[in-house]
Amino acid sequence: MPQIFDRSSNALARMSLVLTGLIVIALGVTLDQLQRSPWVTRQGQRPDQPVPFSHEHHVQGLGLQCQYCHTTVEKSSYAGIPPTRTCMNCHAQIWTDAQLLEPVRNSWYTRESIVWTKVHDLPDYVYFNHEIHVNKGIGCETCHGRVDEMPLMYEQNTLQMEWCLNCHRNPAKNLRPTSEIYNMVWEEPAPDRPVWCAATPDQMGVPTGQQVSCTIRNPNPGGSSAEMAGLELPASPAHGQAGAAPPAPVPSPPKYQEFTSQDQLGHFLLVHYKIRTPKDLTSCEVCHR
Ligand code: HEC
Ligand code: HEC
Ligand code: HEC
Ligand code: HEC
Ligand code: HEC
Repeated sequence: MPQIFDRSSNALARMSLVLTGLIVIALGVTLDQLQRSPWVTRQGQRPDQPVPFSHEHHVQGLGLQCQYCHTTVEKSSYAGIPPTRTCMNCHAQIWTDAQLLEPVRNSWYTRESIVWTKVHDLPDYVYFNHEIHVNKGIGCETCHGRVDEMPLMYEQNTLQMEWCLNCHRNPAKNLRPTSEIYNMVWEEPAPDRPVWCAATPDQMGVPTGQQVSCTIRNPNPGGSSAEMAGLELPASPAHGQAGAAPPAPVPSPPKYQEFTSQDQLGHFLLVHYKIRTPKDLTSCEVCHR
């Protein structure tokens, strides 16, 4: 066999193979980083808005609740952006000649909605739903950050698939009582900051989240939950009456359990909110339908 290439070109070929490999890897890493960069995910950016609306002023300063403006967040997939009418509840009287509010007044007189630039915007092929998240004890702040400290709205988290999956693989660490979903400064339970929760039996038509009630004040008379467990209600008055329908079962008072760590609370809520397994929650069909 005649040798067309000598030994050195053999080494050269091997070298260029290695080089090409390295370049491909480097390119891959760069693209991957680019894909995760704030420039692509828009994380942290404050887009121009027709009106420089400040959540900090309206939420922290004036004490308005999120639901005052985002009225549908608990009952639909969308949180909703408030109509101009909501702003005019106050701004028909307050700051009526401020230049900043010109677009709001203009929208009111022309009846054309203000066109806000979306800050959070998932691709169309992803299914997302606010209702289920907030009714199963995920707080606004867990996903949107300290909105009450944002002079202008920005995206706190990437909203990339990995971010969603991270929680779906282990929701327990983020679950809180549904009474606390709007709380911007909720802290997980600790030995010096216990939380008491009680679950009532299943009721038709009541969202699972609302069958759990929690409190940060010790609800058990005398202190310990063990005493509460022994408590009994007086017998129903209907009991023993001839011809009367059989007495309705007397609901026993809910038993409050004390929790001193997120681990314990998370697992209790996981069970009583009936949250699916990580395997179910990370299957592709959950978010790509
Ligand atoms: C006085 C009305 C008002 C209140 C109260 C309010 N918001 Fe908003 N919110 C708006 C308006 C108007 C926008 C659209 C303009 C913007 O993005 O800043 C908005 C936008 C948002 C967005 C971003 C929407 C997007 O484009 O992706 C989030 C998230 C949000 N609000 C969360 C909250 C949370 C959480 C609370 C309670 C802590 C809250 N808001 C309270 C009026 C309000
Ligand atoms: C509950 C009453 C109330 C509602 C509802 C309300 N505002 Fe305000 N807004 C105020 C008050 C009061 C101020 C003055 C705040 C300050 O300077 O501390 C203000 C200030 C502002 C300012 C001036 C900049 C700033 O934040 O100080 C803008 C812009 C504004 N509001 C836009 C809006 C828009 C848009 C809406 C509707 C989505 C809205 N407001 C709804 C009461 C309200
Ligand atoms: C599990 C994470 C998560 C929680 C909890 C959550 N959000 Fe969102 N929110 C999102 C995502 C993701 C989007 C973008 C949705 C899209 O683009 O379709 C969004 C969008 C929004 C928007 C823009 C308008 C809309 O309806 O899409 C508002 C306003 C908003 N959220 C407010 C709230 C409020 C108020 C709460 C608390 C009651 C809350 N969110 C809780 C993840 C969350
Ligand atoms: C902080 C935790 C957390 C984050 C972040 C989160 N989720 Fe969820 N998600 C949950 C919990 C808890 C449930 C309720 C599961 C159940 O009831 O079995 C849920 C349920 C869902 C469901 C099921 C709805 C239904 O009706 O079956 C969808 C879809 C979903 N999430 C999409 C998303 C998407 C998309 C993102 C990212 C943009 C996301 N989630 C981010 C915790 C989270
Ligand atoms: C909890 C919700 C959730 C689940 C479960 C999920 N995805 Fe996604 N997926 C998303 C979100 C959100 C995006 C959009 C990411 C973005 O905008 O950057 C996405 C984007 C994608 C993309 C587009 C490319 C990319 O990475 O941005 C592909 C492909 C994809 N998902 C495939 C899958 C497959 C396959 C599965 C099952 C193994 C799956 N997804 C499960 C939420 C989910």
